Amino acid sequence: MEHTANTQPKNAIDSLDNLIQSLHRVFSADEVNIEEVKTLMESYESNPKDWMKFAKFDKHRYTRNLVDEGNGKFNLMLLCWGEAHGSSIHDHTNSHCFLKLLQGRLKETLYDWPEDKRSKQELHKRCEINFEENQCTYINDSIGLHRVENGSHCDHAVSLHLYSPPFDTCHTFDERTGHRNSVKMTFWSKYGERTPYGTALSKENN
Ligand SMILES: [Fe+2]
Repeated sequence: MEHTANTQPKNAIDSLDNLIQSLHRVFSADEVNIEEVKTLMESYESNPKDWMKFAKFDKHRYTRNLVDEGNGKFNLMLLCWGEAHGSSIHDHTNSHCFLKLLQGRLKETLYDWPEDKRSKQELHKRCEINFEENQCTYINDSIGLHRVENGSHCDHAVSLHLYSPPFDTCHTFDERTGHRNSVKMTFWSKYGERTPYGTALSKENN
């Protein structure tokens, strides 16, 4: 008789720690398999107990909170969005960007790159996508630009972002003119500890 013991598959992701371990393994390879990372991140069912210690909110704007430095291969962070907080339109500095929604709802608006750097032209809005909890989305510069927003006026949202390779500057874009600015990003907290005042002042966004 066949033995059918009900065991979890070896790669089951049952905690954030477990997800981080698996991400280290996946990113130790030279090539990044986008679908594999997306599937991995989606397979973690968000449990606030796992990530509560990293979730730090600011009244005025969303915060970036470092969770793991991925052996130098990636940065994993929690973004905490208060009511109606949103990012600028931005690029991703030739990195992979994975965004998994841990709590609440977020809206992503995709834009095309400006056609001409020199002339003023409104950015072309391609589409809007609403995300549900545990969903994971992906973007890079060849796909386009985006803006991420918590459209809710009564609920927070929390998302888990993975950037590979890590970067700390990107461009933000003015929707009306396509004008771009280079901006440096910082962390509101690292490993659950508030970053000392003065180093956490970030102008913008990813
Ligand atoms: Fe982004």
